Amino acid sequence: MAILVCGGAGYIGSHTVRQLVAAGEDVIVADNFSTGHRRAIDPAAKIYRCDIRDKDALKKIFAAEKIEAVIHFAAFIEAGESVRKPLKYFDNNVCGTEILLEAMVEGGVDKIIFSSSAAVYGEPERIPIDEDDQTLPVNPYGSSKLMMEMMMRSVAAAHSVKFVSLRYFNASGAIEDGSIGEDHHPETHLIPLILQVPLGQRDNITVFGTDYPTPDGTCIRDYVHVLDLAAAHLNALNYLRGGGSSDFFNLGNGRGFSVREIIDAAEKIVGKKISTVFGERRPGDPARLIASGAKARRILNWTPRFDDVERIIATAWRWHSTHPFGYGD
Ligand code: UFG
Repeated sequence: MAILVCGGAGYIGSHTVRQLVAAGEDVIVADNFSTGHRRAIDPAAKIYRCDIRDKDALKKIFAAEKIEAVIHFAAFIEAGESVRKPLKYFDNNVCGTEILLEAMVEGGVDKIIFSSSAAVYGEPERIPIDEDDQTLPVNPYGSSKLMMEMMMRSVAAAHSVKFVSLRYFNASGAIEDGSIGEDHHPETHLIPLILQVPLGQRDNITVFGTDYPTPDGTCIRDYVHVLDLAAAHLNALNYLRGGGSSDFFNLGNGRGFSVREIIDAAEKIVGKKISTVFGERRPGDPARLIASGAKARRILNWTPRFDDVERIIATAWRWHSTHPFGYGD
């Protein structure tokens, strides 16, 4: 039986597809290619061009293929954009998931692993953040992820579907051979933007805010390698196969790095000074987000391999320096 990966052409999805294929799984990708890249998909995976809001298209896939489980990455991901265009996020992320769940229930598929986010917590009540801490998103992106989780919980209670919700902290890095990596248009994430400076694609990096209540005044995040995130999906799949119950897991390293520390680490990796400008705070940025990864380690048996931020940035640099224009599509 096959694993259906919705959004398998995206950044985290494409790395997960690679690992599923390497683990001997039969992989089918469904992607509408609105933000994903065909060239990011492992050639061993079968591809359907399909939007998860298109129920007929999904039903055809479920009828044509024997699907054991769904891994669901298909969502918009930019918190800032979600403030300006909330309905875009509720349509794709929430309505899309609802239709996907309908198709799964009707098609008798009973396992789903899906991308959630640290954004469900909003401004955290304590650090490190535990899965049971209050979820109070501060932007429509985070709300859309929380609504997806609530939907999953209700569907799991009413039908025989089981889910694992993986709340990613700051996904970063790339596969070690540099063959696939992060390619967003426009790019909004810190590490790829920093690396555009030594690539000669931008003059400097702007630090958003230097007056946060942190040791150096800049925001602190928990950077977690995309290969470690991908591996967690395989662990979650095996957890559900082994009869594990529906649950939520934070995926982070449990260590925080400030924006300044990330710029310093990037300078070491690229061997050049990175021109830096200090700007205003970006609205909606919590000062510190650090995961407690204890539950994922304990229950999913998940051990991140990349706990060193320089190693993470080195893999990102390998990808960006060998693919300065990403996939070029
Ligand atoms: N930052 C800058 N300058 C930039 C870009 C970012 O200083 O040019 C700062 C941000 O203010 C933030 C940090 O770098 O403090 C990281 O910013 P990112 O945009 O890379 O990541 P976010 O922490 O904002 O968001 C990420 C994911 C979201 C997810 C969130 C949850 O992109 O999808 O983590 O923690 F919701």
